[in-house]
Parts: sequence; structure tokens; C-alpha cells
Amino acid sequence: MEKHLKRNSFKGSLGFVLAAAGSAVGLGNIWRFPYLAAKDGGGLFLVLYIILALTFGFTLLTTEIAIGRKTKQSPLTAYGQFKKKWKWLGVVACLVPVIIMPYYCVIGGWVLKYFLAYLTGQGTALAADNYFTSFITSDIEPIVMLILFLGASAFVVFRGVNKGIESFSKVIMPALLLLVVAIAVFSLTLSHTDSNGATRTGLEGLKVYVIPDLSDLTVKSFFSTLLDAMGQLFFSLSVAMGIMITYGSYVRDDANLNKSINQIEIFDTVVAFLAGVMIIPAVYTFSGIEGMDASGPSLMFISLPKVFAAMGFAGNIVGCLFFAMVLFAALTSAVSVMEAVVSSLMDNFKLSRVKSASIEGIIALVVGILVCLGYNIMYFEASLPNGTTGQLLDIMDYISNNILMPIVAIGTCVLIGWIVKPKTIIDEVEKSGTKMGRKRLYTVMIKFVAPAMLVLLFLKSVGILTVI
Ligand code: ALA
Repeated sequence: MEKHLKRNSFKGSLGFVLAAAGSAVGLGNIWRFPYLAAKDGGGLFLVLYIILALTFGFTLLTTEIAIGRKTKQSPLTAYGQFKKKWKWLGVVACLVPVIIMPYYCVIGGWVLKYFLAYLTGQGTALAADNYFTSFITSDIEPIVMLILFLGASAFVVFRGVNKGIESFSKVIMPALLLLVVAIAVFSLTLSHTDSNGATRTGLEGLKVYVIPDLSDLTVKSFFSTLLDAMGQLFFSLSVAMGIMITYGSYVRDDANLNKSINQIEIFDTVVAFLAGVMIIPAVYTFSGIEGMDASGPSLMFISLPKVFAAMGFAGNIVGCLFFAMVLFAALTSAVSVMEAVVSSLMDNFKLSRVKSASIEGIIALVVGILVCLGYNIMYFEASLPNGTTGQLLDIMDYISNNILMPIVAIGTCVLIGWIVKPKTIIDEVEKSGTKMGRKRLYTVMIKFVAPAMLVLLFLKSVGILTVI
């Protein structure tokens, strides 16, 4: 009981919603959502994504936040509070942020480097062929940037739940939203005539993004789009990473969970949609439909700098604002990933925040340096079971996203749906006296639909299910 009294909590619902939305809105929204939307025929992906957010995403988000608030524990110890035999699930759920943190900070360092380059007026250099490759394969700079980015995230975590995470999110998230809206509007006003005399506009690019292209639709492509949307939603909402359990554990018992969960979902989905409005019309205008083939690092660090360079003088300013926005999104997510580990160490080993944050900071630093060296003296190429090849960063990303996260989510559905029973979560949501919406839907989803879909996603991502 003493442990419960000492636990910090978010001062208000706004602080919680912005911190959780800050965790959700991250690199996933910005570099993966627009790419998948473009690849999967625009509008169809968007429609499926929204339906999944309201059903599947809602189910997982509600479950994790309620587990956190009910147990007042972080992932490592929360699952075991329901059933001792399920403590292993907490260990896996805690391992996910341990693996994600180092490589997320390496990418955060790349973002910081690009932001600083635009800020100092050197944006044009970033558009040169091979710039990105020569930067990430260089000896020192990626490590320096990693240290700065990790240092900034650790600083917020060291300051704690209120003075750190809550205060930081309250400043950064409104700024991020403002930047996203401003860049999206700007992107729609673009127009460019290429060397062949063809003129393309941002509004035409918007149509490519939102209007469903069903011309090649088959049952197989429909399911493939569905699983793409589901995989994306999963990462984007920060579920199955222990984060939402941790943040849920800081929510006060009198807070209206139902309302906060809806707000987090809306925030994350709106920013993901707007990320597409920022990126797709701009890339389409300057590079045509072919320019939209890039995803992940190459979209953000190779294609977009070329788009900004083609904008002339304005490009440097837009590039600077864009990378400031990405930096904000990445920082608030990295803070949440780190907090999930720090809070687990505090709960399980009764360590102080300073000790726990120092331990996790050192782990992230050492492994992060190895990830940087994975593009340098430790370079190798590994074939992954899903048919892709990658370096250390991709291997870590694959293990966390494609193997461990589905296991955590399937385990959570089985534990809550069949052993603890959905009513426990519904009662927790309704504890503050408000009715939980979509209750029946929740029960059906957690028991049947979500685990079945997750098993399909898992089989697909480990390369066993190849027909979809
Ligand atoms: N949810 C975070 C992201 O989208 C981790 O990047």
C-alpha cells in the first residue's frame, strides 16, 4: 500500500492525454503511415485504418491503460498482479522498450542532425546523392547526435512524471500540432512544372492520397492492406510496448478514462492523417507518383530533402520546421519508451528514479553506439524471415515489432479476455462513475477478433503466412 501512495500521478487529464498522445505520435506516424497509405491505394488504407483504430486500437489501448491504472504498476510487474503465472508476459513487455530505445535514439539523432543542418542554412547539401549514407556510415557524428538525443530524453525522464513528462508534453504537443497543420496547409498550396513541362499540384497529390484506388483490388490485396493498417496502428498507438501500462499507472482514480482514451486515439489518428497531407502532396508535386515509393529512412532523409531543395529559398525554412516537428514527435515517444523501462526497474527492484534512469540510459547508450557502428566497422547484412535484409538496427526493429510485440498483444488478449475477464477492465474504466462506450464491442474484440487478427499478423510478419 505504501508503494501505491508514493507513486506519482499526472496532475490532470490534459497532462495524461498529451503525454500519451506524445508517445503515440512518433516516427511511425510520420515516415510509415504516409508511405503505407500511398502504397496501399490511398483511401482504402485510410478507411481500414480508421475502422481498426475505433475497434482494434481502442481495445488494446483501453486494456493497457486500465491494467496500468488498476495495478498501479509498470509492465514488468503489472501482469503478475493478476496471475503470478503470467509474470513472464511482463518480462517480454518490458524487453520491448529495452530493445526499441537504443535504435529509436539513433534515428532521433539523425533527425537532430537534419534539423541542425536546416537551422544553420545548410539544407541544400542534404539533398545531394549519398549524403544520408555517408552521414550514417561516418565514424563520430551519428554517435554524437545519439548522445545529444538520448541526453535530452533522459533529462525529461530524470525530472519525473510531473516536472518532466507532463510539463514537457504540455509544451511540445501543442507546438507539434501547430507545425503539422501549418506544413500540411503549405504542402497543399504547392505547384511545380518539371523538365518535361508537366505541372503537378499539391491538391492533385491530396487526391492521390485520399481517393481510394480500387482498380487493382483483389481479396489478397485487401487482406494485405488490412494487415498493413493493423501493423501500423499497433506501433503507432504505442501498445504492446509496456508504455501505455506505465502511463496508465500514473492516471488518478477519479480521471475519466473513457474520454481520455478517445482523445488519445483521435490525436494519434489526426496527426497520422495530416502527416500524409504534409508529405504525399509535396513528394507528388516535385517527384511525381514514382517519388512515393520510398518509405522509412529513405523517405524522410533522402526523398524529402530533395523536395525541400526543389522549393528554393522557402525549402530551407520548411525543412527546418519539418525536422523540428519530427524531433518533437520522436522526443516525446523516446521519453515514453525510456519511462516504461525506468518505471519497471523502480517497481521491481525498488530503485530510485535516478538509479533506474541511469541504468537504462547506459544500456541505451552502449547498445545505441553498437547500432551506429552497425553502419560502420560492424557492418553486415542479415536476411530476415520476412524476406528483407538489414543491419543491426533492422534486426532489433524486427525482433521488437514483428516478434515480441505481437506476442505481448496476443498474451494480453488471452489473459484479459479469458482468464481475468473483460469485466475487470470495464469496471476499471467505469470506476470514476462514467459509462464505458463500446462495451460489447470491447468484449468481443478482446476475446475473439483481436487475438485472431494478431495471430494472422504474427504469422505474416515471421514469414510463415505468405498467401496474404
Ligand atoms: N508510437 C511511437 C511511434 O509511432 C513509438 O513512433
